Parts: sequence; structure tokens; C-alpha cells
Amino acid sequence: MIIMMKRVQFFDTTLRDGEQTIGVNFSISQKVQIAKQLEKWGVDVIEAGFPIASPEDFEAVAAVSKAVKHATITGLARAKNKDIDACVKATKDAAHKQVHVFIATSPIHRESKLHMSKDEVIQSIHDHVSYAKQFFDVVQFSPEDATRTEKPYLAKACQTAIEAGATIINIADTVGYSNPVEFGQLFDYLRENVPDFDKAVFSTHCHDDLGMATANALEAIKHGASRIEGTINGLGERAGNTALEEVAAAFYVRKDYFQVEDHINLKETKNTSDLISKFSEMDVPHNKAVVGKNAFSHESGIHQDGFLKNHATYEILTPQSVGVKRSALPLGKLSGSHAIMDKLNKMGYSVSRDDMKIIFPIFKNVADNEKLVSEEDLKDIMTQARVRG
Ligand code: KIV
Ligand code: ZN
Repeated sequence: MIIMMKRVQFFDTTLRDGEQTIGVNFSISQKVQIAKQLEKWGVDVIEAGFPIASPEDFEAVAAVSKAVKHATITGLARAKNKDIDACVKATKDAAHKQVHVFIATSPIHRESKLHMSKDEVIQSIHDHVSYAKQFFDVVQFSPEDATRTEKPYLAKACQTAIEAGATIINIADTVGYSNPVEFGQLFDYLRENVPDFDKAVFSTHCHDDLGMATANALEAIKHGASRIEGTINGLGERAGNTALEEVAAAFYVRKDYFQVEDHINLKETKNTSDLISKFSEMDVPHNKAVVGKNAFSHESGIHQDGFLKNHATYEILTPQSVGVKRSALPLGKLSGSHAIMDKLNKMGYSVSRDDMKIIFPIFKNVADNEKLVSEEDLKDIMTQARVRG
């Protein structure tokens, strides 16, 4: 049986939504380096900035447009002609380009922020997508706060955008309000209620306020989306965005479930994450999926023993597949005899299971008072063991 693999586009917004992380401010040169690395990693689209926001942002989008050869470059624009004009100018040198126009559709944003009626928002979508279409073949429209928008009205907004020329509709869970079941159902609803659903590529843009940004995006893929927006290391406004490295790893590990074509150069994942961590001056949490320092470390005795017998007992992804050199078995109070013996033998000792009967209790005494047991500690432990042995 031939299984049709789905092609999912990766849209990276580290340089735009990612830069909305408090305290993050990339220089133009850093943005160019990040864009080149993202291209090496294999993303399809790079949102290089919000050109109308500042002269620096405009210059950054222009510089990235010149530097990148294969990925499509986009700038962000509110539903305003001047924002779209800024995107036209900033992306003029891009080999491949699109524009990203957005306006909020939810009642709270319409009433409290935009002070616009439902009809006025629909008119604005029509006018600005049509305006953008004069300059760009690929026009992306995002209904901001889509997940808190009345469903029939959201369907109308999407249909209006497609009729006006949008080729991509990006469903934004702006405040991370949704959950996987509900987000999947929203895509089902749109597939059934947007008459021209099949004429556009549907995309997801999820925030992580309730810790579900990656899960929501992945569920959307199962329900008709074929583009995922996100950032590296999950950078972004408040709790951040869908972490694209998690999406790429999920597609790779669970090919059987997602049936998505591999086109991301997964081995560049760690390099990409490290570069962005360095330039954003944001440490990656140690327990962060895929790229955290502990993602391939095993401390407890049962896990270490299993891992030493067969790595796949506790690793669903090899560290090498995402560009991490090797797994680690740090030794602490929960570690077991097998890992300690393995470590000592790697350090050049010749330790048997019988020897461990003397070494292990000494190790446990030391480990009870230390966060981790170092090689120096192990040497001391061996000296004590010799005295006792
Ligand atoms: O979170 C959001 O709604 C956005 C839009 C601009 C897509 O970032
Ligand atoms: Zn966002």
C-alpha cells in the first residue's frame, strides 16, 4: 500500500513574534545570521519583522530579504495600506516573498481594541487583502484571536479574505486559549463552512499561555492545516509560540501517526536553538523538549540501567538526530550500580559487579550530600573503596 505523505510548511516567526519576547532585541546582523540558519534548518517561510514598526525593523526585513535565497520572506502588516506598502518596499529584493496581513475578529478585540463593527472588520479584510494582492502573489491573512471569534463570523472572515485574493489563511490562537480537541474541531468547522476552503492553504499560529501551543498546532495538521507558524525555542509574546523544533521532532518520531514528509534538516536543530538562545540572551530551560540540556540525560537507576541495555528503552529520539553529540548519564543519589560501574570503567578503572558491593554504599553516602557526583568525587570514592576492600 502506498501511503501519501503530507507536505507541511514551516513558517518561522522567531524574528517577529519571537522578538516580541520581553528583553529580546536582535540586531540586524543577528537577524541575518538567524535567517540563514533557519534556511539551513529548512524552514519554508521566514517572517523577518514588522516593517512599519520601526526604521530598524524595516532595515532588518530588507537585509534578510537580500540574504536569503530559498525561503520565502514575509513582513507583517496590520490591515492598513501604509503597513502593506512598507512590506512591499522592505521585501523588494527577496527571491521569494509573501505578505502577512492581519486584523482581529473576536468580539473583545473588535469592541474594546478596534472599535469596529462586524461589518467594518469584514470590509477592512476585503479592502486590505485586495490591496495587498496588487503587489504580492502570495497573500496571507490572519484573523487575530480567531479562537475567541464566533465560528460563523470567523468562517465569513476567512471566505472574504480568500475571495479578495488571500492564498493562505492563518488561524491565530493569539492568547493560547484553545486546546487540541477544540482546535481540531475548529478546523473541521472551517473546512465545512468556508466555501473556498480548498482554494487556500490553512495555517496555524498558536501561543503557549496554557502550555498547549505545540499540541494545538499538531492537532490542526490532522484536521486540514498544512502550514505551522512558530518560533525556535518557543520564543514569543508572553508564554511564547509553538516551538518549531518540537513540531519537527514530533513529525520525525511519529511519522506513523502524522504521515508528514521530512524536509527539515533535523541535525541542524541544536545549532539553530543554540544560536537563537545566544542572540536572544534567553537560556533554554534544562527540561525543554528536544533542545534542553536534560532532554537526553538520564539520572535514575532504573532508567540508566534500561538505557545501558538498550538506548531505546528511554529515548524515542537519538540525540544525534537533532545534532546533540551524545546522551548523558549524570550520577546522583537516584543512580544505580549499573551506571556507576559503567562510568568507572570508562574512567579507566576495572570494576566488577562484586567490587560494586563495596563501592555502591560509599557512592550513596557521597551522593546523598551532593546534587551530582563528579569524576573527582568518583576518584575519592575509589580511594575509600580500596582502603575498605
Ligand atoms: O498572535 C497573533 O495573533 C499574531 C498575529 C499577527 C498572527 O501574532
Ligand atoms: Zn502571535
